[in-house]
Amino acid sequence: MRLDVFSIFPEYLAALDVSLVGKAAKSGLLDVRVHDLRDWTHDRHRTVDDTPYGGGAGMVMKPEPWGEAFDSVMPGDGPSQPRLIVPTPAGRPFSQDLAYELAAEPWLAFACGRYEGIDGRVAAHAAERMQVTEVSIGDYVLNGGEVAVLVMVEAIARLLPGVIGNPESLAEESHSGHGLLEYPVYTKPPAWRGHEVPEVLLSGNHKLIAEWRHEESVRRTAERRPDLLAAWGSSLAAEDDAAS
Ligand code: ADE
Repeated sequence: MRLDVFSIFPEYLAALDVSLVGKAAKSGLLDVRVHDLRDWTHDRHRTVDDTPYGGGAGMVMKPEPWGEAFDSVMPGDGPSQPRLIVPTPAGRPFSQDLAYELAAEPWLAFACGRYEGIDGRVAAHAAERMQVTEVSIGDYVLNGGEVAVLVMVEAIARLLPGVIGNPESLAEESHSGHGLLEYPVYTKPPAWRGHEVPEVLLSGNHKLIAEWRHEESVRRTAERRPDLLAAWGSSLAAEDDAAS
């Protein structure tokens, strides 16, 4: 998978060289290219922002550097174009489902906005020759899209075949498939600082262990994410209907 990231703070994206994503890049599974948007400015101050039409606080990112950057890094149109992701608190919510959807793309580009955002014509113009998706990583406001890109790239990269050593570990985790939060996990020693590992996990009885884990998942989900539990309950009911 190829990833192009456009930012006025390319140093932020240095984290993409580390850990799982960095390893995937070194092994050739990921082709990561980080671009400094200011390379496509032409004035002495390398200006990327200007005051908003209509008034209001803050500055807006000018369209011209974005247009030139996209023309030079992703020329052409049609199916050979990347899917462009624009992180913004006003976007479609990022989720494990969207991570799987994006992991299936051969080429993603990310446009990191700063200030009050990017001139609205940049996404509109890009959409004439590629699929553009504005995405939010949560209901809070960051100073720019860079951290959101780190979050999304990590969630996407670990789904690519060959990136995670044991793909089975993807099946059981929170937000994957069954819609419940993951149960708690333990390792040795069996007792630590007065806290013991739940006895059932030491029993060797796989059926009891599976039941206990499921109950813990349901309990946690009910306590922390009642919204997910309700959705899980409806999906079970729908499965029952389909089977009868
Ligand atoms: N940029 C600023 N806040 C953001 C958010 N919550 N998600 C994605 N991009 C953002």
